[in-house]
Amino acid sequence: GYRAEDDYDYLFKVVLIGDSGVGKSNLLSRFTRNEFSLESKSTIGVEFATRSLTVDGKVIKAQIWDTAGQERTNHFIGQSPSSGKMRLFMVSISYVLPLVSRYRAITSAYYRGAVGALLVYDVTRHSTFESVERWLRELRDHTDPNIVVMLIGNKCDLRHLVAVSTDDGTSFAEKESLYFMETSALDATNVENAFTEVLTQIH
Ligand code: GTP
Ligand code: MG
Repeated sequence: GYRAEDDYDYLFKVVLIGDSGVGKSNLLSRFTRNEFSLESKSTIGVEFATRSLTVDGKVIKAQIWDTAGQERTNHFIGQSPSSGKMRLFMVSISYVLPLVSRYRAITSAYYRGAVGALLVYDVTRHSTFESVERWLRELRDHTDPNIVVMLIGNKCDLRHLVAVSTDDGTSFAEKESLYFMETSALDATNVENAFTEVLTQIH
């Protein structure tokens, strides 16, 4: 039968998280517009895009949120201040505290109502995999325990540069009870699968 373009059975909010440069925005553009950009700039603020798909005869509208993955907290607080930098630290903390509370407000708004998450690292940069634990903690602190979380090792097209093995991704995901896939926003490997799996597991 006829369905209006914006007619749907479920609206699901899904958030993208992970370090800067891991490919969150390109995963989003690949999934929602089938687009990829080699020279995409770091995301400013919060963006979202939607795509509807049918699962078991129900139309699911996915509203996918994307923001910059900079280590915002570290920017504000600074690395452990050494003695010489202590004074500067004390001065800057008075500027920084209002920013921290602003950061907190933005963070909780970002996660509010999310029923799914893609936690992304870059298989060619081990540091982005080491950050996964911290992202998971932030996610757990701000979301419902039933949220569906998919760990994503992105950029799997760069086979010769791999720094995080598939086994390491799999073991971490098993330990934390997360779904896991390796993807490439560039050649579209598993992008559709990853989003669809999250959306299917939600309901
Ligand atoms: P922030 O907005 O700063 O948090 O970064 P991001 O996670 O949104 O990363 P973005 O999507 O902007 O991608 C960063 C860079 O990696 C860009 O130059 C992309 O072209 C590149 N990139 C993203 N995904 C892939 C991929 O699957 N393979 C390859 N080879 N490059 C990718
Ligand atoms: Mg981005």
